[in-house]
Parts: sequence; C-alpha cells; structure tokens
Amino acid sequence: MPLLTIETTCDETAAAVVERSGKVLGSAVATQEKLHERFTGVVPEIASRAHVERILPVIDETLRQSGVPPERLTAIAVAHTPGLAGSLLVGVVAAKTLSVVWDKPLVAINHLHAHLYACQLTVLPRDIYPCIGLIVSGGHTSLYRAASPLDLKYLGGTIDDAAGEAFDKVAAMLRLGFPGGPAVSRLAATGDPQAFRFPRAMIHDANFDFSFSGLKTAVRYAIAGPGKVDFDSLQISDGKRADLCASFEAAVVDCLVTKSIRAVRQHAAGLTRSDAPGEPPRLCVGGGVAANPRLRQSLEAACDAAGIELIIAPPELCTDNAVMGAIGWEKVIRGDFAPLNLDIQPGLQRGH
Ligand code: KG4
Ligand code: ZN
Repeated sequence: MPLLTIETTCDETAAAVVERSGKVLGSAVATQEKLHERFTGVVPEIASRAHVERILPVIDETLRQSGVPPERLTAIAVAHTPGLAGSLLVGVVAAKTLSVVWDKPLVAINHLHAHLYACQLTVLPRDIYPCIGLIVSGGHTSLYRAASPLDLKYLGGTIDDAAGEAFDKVAAMLRLGFPGGPAVSRLAATGDPQAFRFPRAMIHDANFDFSFSGLKTAVRYAIAGPGKVDFDSLQISDGKRADLCASFEAAVVDCLVTKSIRAVRQHAAGLTRSDAPGEPPRLCVGGGVAANPRLRQSLEAACDAAGIELIIAPPELCTDNAVMGAIGWEKVIRGDFAPLNLDIQPGLQRGH
C-alpha cells in the first residue's frame, strides 16, 4: 500500500508515489523556472497561481505512472512547513480534499526534514541517523543534529541570505538567468577561484552560523564598484565572469565545509549508535545547493581527511521534489496522522 506525497513549498509542483521500502513507483515535478526567470527570483503570487493550475495534472500523472489506483494508497502526505504561504496552501488544500474524497489519512511533512531524508533514501535500508545534517537551499542554510528522521535540533544557520539565494543574486547581477546556481557553477568550473579574495564571513566564529549578504555585496563591488549601476549595459569579459563565479563559489563552499566539519567534530560523541561502536560520524547534505559540484568535491575531500562518512543526496533529490516526502512513512508507521484542519506554517522552522 504505497504513499502519495505532495510538495508545493516554493516553485516546484511535485507529487510522488513511494513504497515503505523507498521504492518510487511514480514521480512528477513541474518546475516554474521559466515563469520566474525575468524577475530573477520566485514571485510568490505567480508561484501560487501556477501551483493551482498544475497540482491536479501533476498528481494525475504521478498516479498514472505508478499504476496505483487511489483506493490502494495508504495515506496522503503533504509538505505544510516551511515555505511560501500561497504555495503551501495549494498543496495542503489538495491533500486535504483528496484525503476526504478518497477516505485516506493525512500526513504532515516538514520540508526541511524531508530534504535531509533524501540522504536516507540513498542508503536504505541502512540508517543515516544520528547525523549532522546540512540543509542548503534557496531558502535555507542550516546545520542540525538529527537524532532520527523527525527529531532535528537546530545548531545554527544563516543570519541573512541563504546560500542559494546568494547564488541567484550573483547570477542576476551577471545576467546569467534563474535559478542562478547551475549557471554560476557551470561558469565557475572554467574560472580561477583565487582571482578575487572574497570574504568568508563568520568562518572563524565559534558557532554554526553563516552570513552571505556581505559576500553578495563584495561581488557586486567587484563587478561594478559602488554607486548606481545599470547591470544590463555592463561590459564584463567572459574570463572575468568565470573568475567572479569561481571566487564567489569558493567563498560559499569554504564557509559551508568549515562549519559542517566543525559541527560533526563537536558533536561526534553523540553521532555513534550504541549497537555500532567505532563507526565514523556522519555528515548528510541536502537541498538545491548540494547539487553544486565544487561543494560536493570539497565536502568529500574534507570528510575523507577528517574520518567522517559523507552522504549527499543525488542531484535530482537535492532540488525540491516529492520523493523525499517518503519521510511521511516515518509518521505513518507511528500512526501520527494530521487532523483535517492541518494548517500551513510558512515561517522559518528550526527543525524541532
Ligand atoms: O532546494 P531547492 O530546489 O529549493 C528550495 O527549497 O529553496 O533549492 C533551490 C536553490 C536555488 O537557489 C538554486 O540556485 C540552487 O538551489 N542551486 C544551486 C545549484 N543547483 C541549484 N546552487 C549552486 N550550485 C548548483 N549547481
Ligand atoms: Zn527545498
């Protein structure tokens, strides 16, 4: 009896049908990138309207792929926090309606917990918990101590921009399109990461916080200096663009790697299971920015050197998707179902 999962927290409309084993029977993601491109960021009103148009076709397509009729579903799981209010509402209302019409229980998913669970899905039936979790996306850059799939303790995170947001803004200044992360990382691969010495804010602070807004400003000054700028008419050579991207990316990656390794070291004692003494502590990484090749390589090198097991979700499970909603099973097996008056919680969640 598989689970139907629904994801509409930001600008992807997604659904999946997943078995308890983690086997994916159907999965569809309708991206809205083209709709938001000219604004170089997600416009909440456009996002929610697009979800309304796409949610039923996406669910239909997912069920069709799976060959599972609604009456065979165990439950309907939906991400209800955190995210954009209008976007979350569309998924939650769809899930509640189907729950009534098909007489199936409702399950509430925390989108951040689900991002980390994407790592669990890559190692099933092995267990990634307890671990340190780094969630790095367009909306979040946070470190957690995850005792179990549903028990995450917030250790620290960005005090201003999320890392993905900084990628998107740098791409916007360089007119590289939206979302910016993939374009910046493609250009960065041909640039010199040491061409510009960009700040690594808070990297030496004895906490697990990040700050990327000053880095964004530093990139802006390196592009055009202070004062009013018409980015459309700026002439920047291809070489300089690549160097800017590579140097920016290196600064973000240095901060993420340094603080993640420090979090694992500091919490190492609590990261081993009593039934598996001697196993290395684990760092698990999810969210859209975890698709970044430089971040993946740097984390691998740093974890190798520090004796840490690294699990990064595969790129297709890093960006928003409904497969990671398989975390809903953790609630199904506990009988932890949501009431029909389940509300959205749009605000930042610190992974309780
Ligand atoms: O997890 P996600 O799909 O949505 C949120 O929950 O925010 O993450 C989207 C973010 C965007 O900011 C995008 O630019 C970034 O992930 N991203 C990347 C890469 N691919 C996506 N950032 C850096 N390098 C990439 N290859
Ligand atoms: Zn996300």
